Amino acid sequence: MTSKLGTALVTGASSGIGATYADRLARRGYDLILVARDAARLGELADKLAKAYGIKADVLRADLSDRADVLKVEDRLRTDEAITLFVNNAGIGPVTSLLESDVDYLDTMVALNVTAANRLAVAAAQTFARRRAGAIINTASVVALAPQIFNGTYAATKAFVLSLTESLAAELKDKNVRIQAVLPGLTRTEIFDRVGRSFNDLDQGMVMDVTDLVDAALAGFDQGEIVTIPALADDGIWNAYLAARGALGPHLSLRKPAARYGLSG
Ligand SMILES: NC(=O)c1ccc[n+]([C@@H]2O[C@H](COP(=O)([O-])OP(=O)(O)OC[C@H]3O[C@@H](n4cnc5c(N)ncnc54)[C@H](OP(=O)(O)O)[C@@H]3O)[C@@H](O)[C@H]2O)c1
Repeated sequence: MTSKLGTALVTGASSGIGATYADRLARRGYDLILVARDAARLGELADKLAKAYGIKADVLRADLSDRADVLKVEDRLRTDEAITLFVNNAGIGPVTSLLESDVDYLDTMVALNVTAANRLAVAAAQTFARRRAGAIINTASVVALAPQIFNGTYAATKAFVLSLTESLAAELKDKNVRIQAVLPGLTRTEIFDRVGRSFNDLDQGMVMDVTDLVDAALAGFDQGEIVTIPALADDGIWNAYLAARGALGPHLSLRKPAARYGLSG
């Protein structure tokens, strides 16, 4: 039997936020396609969730910093008609500040966090728009809104994901396709362990549990939010930010430079 809700394809499903989405979506009754590099770990999770929730769970091994593997996942998104939800989540974090970074590592980060995320989001959006059904959840980060406090390449990859989501949301508005960007703050996963750092060295008041993060993000999804910031208690601040950004609109592209640059008249 296939799920009435359809299938959720989740990238970065072997640990952390992606593995938690897999659990929560299986609990809701979605069948799953779990994507990451560690096939053994994905297989264990797929078996566990299939048994626990009576759903179907497949594994699709892919290194999403590798174009051939990205194309394999893209093909599955475009051709598997059971897929109704795409959780575009795989990503890696920075090792150090930008000035101390290895540029080859930054290239891999851009390949995964931007190139793969973009290709798969656009493929899912095109496919779902044609079917007039489906939803996309993109994992961004709060540093998309605060690049000055973090490694700039990482922050820029997440600003890319946020921009892409807001732009696609406008295009998908009349296509019956939902899209959401989730902006986690520090969230206890394996992301720091993978680069030799530890959450234990951070202010614990700033670190969210991964189940709280995903449960809040899914509540935001259910409420129809385009951008979900799980830690933000006062959503008036976000609305004021959007209003201020919107007020810039009519002033951004005009025939003449502003008077303060001393060129006019
Ligand atoms: N944790 C935080 O504080 C935080 C905050 C803001 C945003 N985020 C974002 O949340 C997302 C998930 O990260 P996480 O915190 O859950 O970290 P995580 O526990 O390290 O999980 C990362 C996932 O991405 C997969 N992955 C890594 N490199 C990959 C590659 N080349 N190809 C395919 N899959 C790959 C990993 O699996 P394999 O190793 O098996 O491939 C793993 O499943 C990322 O986009 C991250 O930027 C995290």
